[in-house]
Amino acid sequence: MTTFEKDNQYIMHTYGRFDLCLVSGKGSTLKDENGKEYIDFGTGIAVNTFGVSDEAWNAAVTAQIAKLAHTSNLYYTEPCANLAEMLCKKTGMAKVFFSNSGAEANECAIKAARKYGTDKDENKNEIITLVNSFHGRTVTTLSATGQDVFHKSFTPFTEGFVYTPANDCDALLEKINSHTAAIMIETVQGEGGVMPLSDEFMACIEKITTENDILLVIDEVQTGNGRTGQLYSYMDTCLTPDIVSTAKGLAGGLPLGATMFNEKLKEILPPSTHGSTFGGNPVCCAGALSILERIDDALLSQVREKSAYIVEKLNAIQGVKSVSGKGFMLGIETKKSAGDIVKACMEKGLLVLTAKTKVRLLPALNISYAEIDKGLEILKGVIEA
Ligand SMILES: Cc1ncc(COP(=O)(O)O)c(C=O)c1O
Repeated sequence: MTTFEKDNQYIMHTYGRFDLCLVSGKGSTLKDENGKEYIDFGTGIAVNTFGVSDEAWNAAVTAQIAKLAHTSNLYYTEPCANLAEMLCKKTGMAKVFFSNSGAEANECAIKAARKYGTDKDENKNEIITLVNSFHGRTVTTLSATGQDVFHKSFTPFTEGFVYTPANDCDALLEKINSHTAAIMIETVQGEGGVMPLSDEFMACIEKITTENDILLVIDEVQTGNGRTGQLYSYMDTCLTPDIVSTAKGLAGGLPLGATMFNEKLKEILPPSTHGSTFGGNPVCCAGALSILERIDDALLSQVREKSAYIVEKLNAIQGVKSVSGKGFMLGIETKKSAGDIVKACMEKGLLVLTAKTKVRLLPALNISYAEIDKGLEILKGVIEA
């Protein structure tokens, strides 16, 4: 049996897989089983922060595997403590809870927000999220997700989520009441079509949350870890989050989620209120340390420069209607169907993604100009054909 046949027979096909089996790669160039090469503008959906087979990351991860791969959270490990310290020092947050995925990082954020609210008043348990948001695939994070398309078939959902349209301060104000515990947002809605929030709306959220002791939860699962040209996307906005969740690119290719809490919330989840068998696994944390220590100002400014370069080139392509997003999280509105563009690019040796009706680019933070040019050449050829 081929890998395709085996996969189709034995995997529960919740994914619409492409007929492509990847076997290896270096940086932003991947290879399939026939040796064909692909420029990678997708990074496994914002995960492979420094591309694949990155030497420093490989060394950090394999050294930790050779020493100690898992302990359980009953014991201390050095990589876990070091990573928590690095995250807190780089963000100014006070405490971190580690899990394994974005959905779990958000579950933890939701539990903590509910606890903060209900510790004050048992009815203060509502969380406002945005229409068109995406927060994960567990029943609770699907419930937090403000898209009807995800709200079929899996009822009953977790109660207590209220949706409000992005960029509409008046509508948000109408939803606020004594039950409101938190507002949870992505600064750029990734799965929702790479839609950044407006500065005015973020200012409105900041004002409402600070004036009413409502928690601000920022979902940085996709936007985080350098993706938008900031370590975390809120860092060049007016927003001051109480809770930040992240995952995807944090460990550069290994499963790791983190939920960060500010000073006010540093005691919010005492012993036995939350847990995860694999959360903070030393191998994942060793990988994350190798990623985070290299996301510095110099790298972030290169991401912003390269992003501006890509946006300029994209805007010059015939058939591109608009480009949205920030840093290395870009959405391209095209005259042709995004799905067709993805397939045609793949045939020609470029991996890109979709987000709703847009073509989405999520390149590695260290992608070279040569790789960018090679990928953009293919993309231009496909869009203009
Ligand atoms: C903003 C956001 N939050 C949460 C998630 C869920 O992350 P995971 O698939 O790791 O559970 C995603 C995944 O795309 C996401 O983009």
